[in-house]
Amino acid sequence: MKILVIGGNGTIGRRVSERLTEKHEVIIAGRNSGDVKVDFSDSNSMQSMFETIGKVDAIVAIAGEAKWDKFSNLSEEDFYIGIKSKLMGQVNVVRIGKDYLNQEGSITLSTGILADDPVDMTTSAAMVNGAIHSFVKAVALELENGIRINVVCSDLVEDSYEKYKDYFPGNTPVPMRKIVDGYIKSVEGKITGRIIRIMA
Ligand SMILES: NC(=O)c1ccc[n+]([C@@H]2O[C@H](COP(=O)([O-])OP(=O)(O)OC[C@H]3O[C@@H](n4cnc5c(N)ncnc54)[C@H](OP(=O)(O)O)[C@@H]3O)[C@@H](O)[C@H]2O)c1
Repeated sequence: MKILVIGGNGTIGRRVSERLTEKHEVIIAGRNSGDVKVDFSDSNSMQSMFETIGKVDAIVAIAGEAKWDKFSNLSEEDFYIGIKSKLMGQVNVVRIGKDYLNQEGSITLSTGILADDPVDMTTSAAMVNGAIHSFVKAVALELENGIRINVVCSDLVEDSYEKYKDYFPGNTPVPMRKIVDGYIKSVEGKITGRIIRIMA
């Protein structure tokens, strides 16, 4: 398969890309690095990226940000950071990307444990993660041409443990291999409309 991985040079993305490369042709997209540059929170940037690369068999998005802070500190604009990047970025992957997928192609999005098990300072991040889950379940009913969609919802990965451990007291991090397997399940399997939860 020809597979586009948006965020394919990130902490999780580069490990998913490495695994996919064993069997498939992988195109890595990112803001600052990769085979093709894209800001997936910008529809025009996304459209021109797809015009450049043409049709693919699978799209994987492993990117997106949201602002972490105490609810009392978050302004309306702060909430829009997560809505524009992590939420609408991934909605745009589907909205625009579906027209560049071959028959029976697939889309795999990314969220995290915060959707179900939020910690302090994550009202914005938890909110957009939950919204993506609802979006995936709904849009799976409407995608045509046999296109599948799933979202991989990961716990904190071992590779990011040092960076985030103080935010997740008592959390057991999950091995990277388990998370990568979640993406493989979505891309190479037949499931659709699923939230693939990868927990320790
Ligand atoms: N790490 C974890 O433990 C964990 C657990 C659960 C969920 N997640 C979620 O999984 C996703 C990836 O996490 P990560 O730790 O791998 O992040 P990361 O190391 O920061 O990597 C993110 C990648 O996405 C790209 N990217 C970011 N914003 C982009 C945009 N607007 N357009 C295009 N590319 C963009 C970055 O490229 P540039 O550097 O070129 O901008 C980078 O390659 C995030 O949404 C994160 O919240 C992570």
